[in-house]
Amino acid sequence: MRMRNKYRKPTTLRCNAAGSRCSKSVAVWSLVGCLLMLHIYYFVHQKDGKRTENQFRMVHDPQLRELQQVEEENIQIPPPRGKRSPRAAKRRPKRPTTIIDEFLDENSQLRSTFFPGEKTAINPMNDAGNDSFFYYPGRIWLDTDGTPIQAHGGGILYDERTRTYYWYGEYKDGPTYHAHKKAAARVDIIGVGCYSSTDLWKWKNEGIVLEAEESNETHDIHKSNVLERPKVVYNEKTGKYVMWMHIDDANYTKASVGIAVSDYPTGPFNYLRSKRPHGFDSRDMTIFKDDDGVAYMVYSSEDNSELHIGPLTEDFLDVTPTVKRVLVGQHREAPALFKHQGTYYMITSGCTGWAPNEALAHAAESIMGPWETMGNPCVVKSKTFRHTTFFSQSTYVIPLPAIPGTFIFMADRWNPADLRDSRYVWLPLIVGGPVDRPLDYNFGFPLWSRVSIYWHRKWRLPQGWNVLK
Ligand SMILES: *[C@@H]1O[C@H](CO)[C@@H](O)[C@H](O)[C@H]1NC(C)=O
Ligand SMILES: *[C@@H]1O[C@H](CO)[C@@H](O)[C@H](O)[C@H]1NC(C)=O
Ligand SMILES: *[C@@H]1O[C@H](CO)[C@@H](O)[C@H](O)[C@H]1NC(C)=O
Repeated sequence: MRMRNKYRKPTTLRCNAAGSRCSKSVAVWSLVGCLLMLHIYYFVHQKDGKRTENQFRMVHDPQLRELQQVEEENIQIPPPRGKRSPRAAKRRPKRPTTIIDEFLDENSQLRSTFFPGEKTAINPMNDAGNDSFFYYPGRIWLDTDGTPIQAHGGGILYDERTRTYYWYGEYKDGPTYHAHKKAAARVDIIGVGCYSSTDLWKWKNEGIVLEAEESNETHDIHKSNVLERPKVVYNEKTGKYVMWMHIDDANYTKASVGIAVSDYPTGPFNYLRSKRPHGFDSRDMTIFKDDDGVAYMVYSSEDNSELHIGPLTEDFLDVTPTVKRVLVGQHREAPALFKHQGTYYMITSGCTGWAPNEALAHAAESIMGPWETMGNPCVVKSKTFRHTTFFSQSTYVIPLPAIPGTFIFMADRWNPADLRDSRYVWLPLIVGGPVDRPLDYNFGFPLWSRVSIYWHRKWRLPQGWNVLK
């Protein structure tokens, strides 16, 4: 996954031609000196960097230490059920069952490992006491009415005006079916669900804030189409809440982005239109609003082979003509962006439909790129968990400004047999420490901090995460 960066500006040693004494040898010796210093710095940094930074955080913050303590997971593939006759085995030598096959098989004996039943549901109304505020990734998560949360492929808006978090996502509480033989599993569009919370744990259902069109078959959000990954940002200049989402037909050939707008975070949102951004096909997407108020759209394009990034117009209702192609040829989707100490980070997944795959972390000095691929951010002993992103796919990263460098990684554990029963995997994400493998273009000098997502069966946010900035 190493990517040599062709686009990075090389360090140029300028010589003033008029200055007669400025010779080649000066340039060469400066370069040698530079290299030497970089190597010394890197040597020292490598020896102490990891330890110092980690030690500092570990020793001085027991709560962060707790977040970094990952749990052991060991899932064994069960033996095949029933005996197959030797003749049958001879006829069709079966390829070995993989853990992904088990995950996708609704009759698997491991079903309850991946999709625990109602008895273990997180219920914020009952679980007060010792279990308060604990996240259990993969369990059913009930809202304050006692109903499973329906906000898949979602994102979070923190509304400063009401000091409330809003969680928007695909409301998928309908039957899963295949539109035709070769089509992917789907649920008809119902709309975009919205939930509100002040603690990121107890979520109140605010209803469906953008509803599917029931009768007009030519409408973008007619129920027979596809609406995925809705993201909402607030525009200070217009005072509007603007929703962007992936709009498609059932065969994923429309590959467009849709825009809706509302005066309130809880809607109703008024659907405006869809378009192909910059004239390109656009599937998985997200919106990232930077500190300076500029919002960017990031989308998988050229048949998911690359990502495109471009700023929105001032009113957030359209894209501008500016766009950059990034991670070209890397085939990434499900982008989730965040920023830490001026550096931009992104988590993406591979493109394998509803099946889980390996996440990658990327970093950039400028949001418009170039973007570097750093590697798999998942920290867990089990290779299976690491290579499947804990059987889930990224959708959003929530910043926790009160604890710099700490975020919540939000992902979906899709259940293609019954999409409404897809689960949420929320885990602590911490930026810190040098990357595992230094990138090669800069003499091994680690430019980026490592992004780590720590596996927990059960965890909660450190105290003080929600103190006012
Ligand atoms: C909470 O934990 C304490 C100590 O472990 C235990 O004594 C108590 O019964 C627990 N309370 C509840 C409501 O589970
Ligand atoms: C149906 O939707 C299309 C596209 O949004 C629109 O142009 C048309 O006017 C709508 N038809 C009716 C009857 O509302
Ligand atoms: C999707 O593809 C199938 C099979 O190729 C076709 O029958 C169907 O009409 C297509 N549907 C749409 C909405 O394009």
